[in-house]
Amino acid sequence: MPEAKGIAAKAHYRETGPADRAAIRALQAEVYSSAIAAVSEALISGPAETLSLAADIDGSLIGHILLTPVAGPDRALALAPHAILPAWRDMQIGTELVRHALRLARQRGWRSVFVYGQPDYYRRFGFKSRTADCADVTWQGDRFLALELEEGALSAYRGPLDYPEAYLAVARAISG
Ligand SMILES: CC(C)(COP(=O)(O)OP(=O)(O)OC[C@H]1O[C@@H](n2cnc3c(N)ncnc32)[C@H](O)[C@@H]1OP(=O)(O)O)[C@@H](O)C(=O)NCCC(=O)NCCS
Repeated sequence: MPEAKGIAAKAHYRETGPADRAAIRALQAEVYSSAIAAVSEALISGPAETLSLAADIDGSLIGHILLTPVAGPDRALALAPHAILPAWRDMQIGTELVRHALRLARQRGWRSVFVYGQPDYYRRFGFKSRTADCADVTWQGDRFLALELEEGALSAYRGPLDYPEAYLAVARAISG
């Protein structure tokens, strides 16, 4: 779909700031629900190291992704929520947004990322269920995936992942 890929190349991928809060809330309310938008806001204003990125086109926010620090493995992040407005889907914008977020995470010295999501979608970035096996969580399975941003980052780790309460609230709300 060359035309759609062209649109993804035209989008601007950037970190968000306080001025984006209303647009992120509106986007998440449209993609998920206003309840999820509200709990996500607590997550965005969590630790300063939280990575929050947007995709925008002509100044209009059409996609958002969040990576939150988790305790356990050294310098590990958890990815969610990740949302693209319905009118802008299947144009590779979500893929580009994940790629930008992972690149920024690597630049900031993060060593691994965990996600609970669609394996077919996240596999394209190198996420694997096997890589997440080192983490002891109750939702272990095919949909629980991890990516090493630094080779071997998780190889010596065996133990729990300690998610912030706001992240668990978002995850519970998304999974219904
Ligand atoms: C998932 C989501 C972020 C993808 O964004 P997008 O911009 O449409 O994705 P892209 O255009 O980059 O990628 C499209 C590809 O992903 C695939 N895809 C899209 N949604 C998918 C899903 N839920 N499961 C598996 N594959 C999916 C498409 O089939 C397409 O495959 P292809 O590249 O092989 O043709 C978007 O559909 C969305 O916001 N969904 C609702 C919220 C959600 O489910 N978020 C993820 C969980 S946190």
